[in-house]
Amino acid sequence: MKILHFSDLHVVPAGQRLFGLDPVLQLRNLIEHACAHHGDADLCVVTGDLTHQGEALAYAALKEELAALPMPTQLLVGNHDHRERFLHYFPEQGTDPHGFIQSYRDTADYRLVFMDTLSPGSPEGEYCAWRLQWLEQVLQSSMLPVLLFSHHPVMDMQFPSMDWIKLREHAAVMQLITSTQKVAYMFAGHVHRPAAGVWQGVPFATVAGTSHQHHFHSTQTGAAETSLEPAGYGVIHALTHTISVHFQLAQSYPRFIYEGPPLRLRD
Ligand SMILES: [Fe+2]
Repeated sequence: MKILHFSDLHVVPAGQRLFGLDPVLQLRNLIEHACAHHGDADLCVVTGDLTHQGEALAYAALKEELAALPMPTQLLVGNHDHRERFLHYFPEQGTDPHGFIQSYRDTADYRLVFMDTLSPGSPEGEYCAWRLQWLEQVLQSSMLPVLLFSHHPVMDMQFPSMDWIKLREHAAVMQLITSTQKVAYMFAGHVHRPAAGVWQGVPFATVAGTSHQHHFHSTQTGAAETSLEPAGYGVIHALTHTISVHFQLAQSYPRFIYEGPPLRLRD
């Protein structure tokens, strides 16, 4: 299975700008790139911050842009989103019995689990007892290894200006992950950067935003600095015994195949 991983779209109503960028145009260009290079993907997962301020018009613009993708989309909410307005525009996206926008789908090799970590008004993620109970049931009942998707990372990223606003209930979620031993890979957004690592034997990856990015600084605390580095997305191949993640820049560069004489080592 091939999955596109988009995150942090921060879409604003059509025609508006954010930090000097046009997030709708950024997304349109990124989708064009993804369709040209990875149009054969089976699914596109978008890990939250779909909009910047949760406006109805922003969700309307988002819906229009996502229609260009040939594969199904699975949308998660982030701290910049508004649950009710999101569901008005995307009622087909699943909710759990308590109305949180979380769901799962089983494929041939993996159970894909999509978490709702939104805490209205807070940049930090939240995972209340209801959501935790749902996750426990979904992990325990799975006969397949799980790919876990969330907006907020569950783990620290050695990125202090983002780590303080990760998932507040990270310890409880981590306890579930270690006790059930079902999670094969964790994917998150929120940090607006491609990064990867391993926590307690479980690999994780985050991706760039489709709009603006965050400058990486490993010691600076406080709010993250916004940066206008190139947008990007992840390309996940989740195969029977292998999971690979490529971090794809959403830009085209000159490329060629070397056709000169065989290369020789110099003396
Ligand atoms: Fe974001």
